[in-house]
Amino acid sequence: MAIPVGIITVSDRASSGEYEDHGGPAVRKACQENGWEVLAEAVVPDELGRIQTTIRAFSAQGCGLILTTGGTGVDPRDVTPEAIRGIMRVEIPGFGETMRMRSLEITPNAILSRSLAAMVDKSLVIALPGKPTGAVECLEFVKGAIPHSVKLALGVPTSC
Ligand code: MTE
Repeated sequence: MAIPVGIITVSDRASSGEYEDHGGPAVRKACQENGWEVLAEAVVPDELGRIQTTIRAFSAQGCGLILTTGGTGVDPRDVTPEAIRGIMRVEIPGFGETMRMRSLEITPNAILSRSLAAMVDKSLVIALPGKPTGAVECLEFVKGAIPHSVKLALGVPTSC
């Protein structure tokens, strides 16, 4: 199954056009290299409601995997984890633990990312950091668990 993916860049400045979005395209390229199918993409500001409605719309569209990039840090505008936690069914702590643990081998600043993954509606949602290289690195660290997790999210029968 080609995993159906939605990608959401969360950034006030990229969404207002103040600067070009590099995070979304970097994540898209990584998805395509994995043979996944990118169905939907959006750039939204760091606003809880906008993040939540976009995740839900992408899930309704059939994106079994939704990747957000940005807004995981500690800036007062960073609300991506809160947005996801506000609509999730369950959090899957192993994703955040793995992303931080592996990223700390690359930069001590990785400790600042509140990256996480959760089941929302019929999707696995993974919040990646905003820096394009960091987002792609984190995706790579958890990639192995994605196919099985997406099947569970979509309700596809699986054998563990
Ligand atoms: N993780 C990896 N793998 N590589 C990185 O360069 N940057 C960190 C961290 N996680 C980074 C990383 C930095 S500098 C910050 S501030 C946090 O992610 C949060 O980023 P965000 O607020 O843009 O999501």
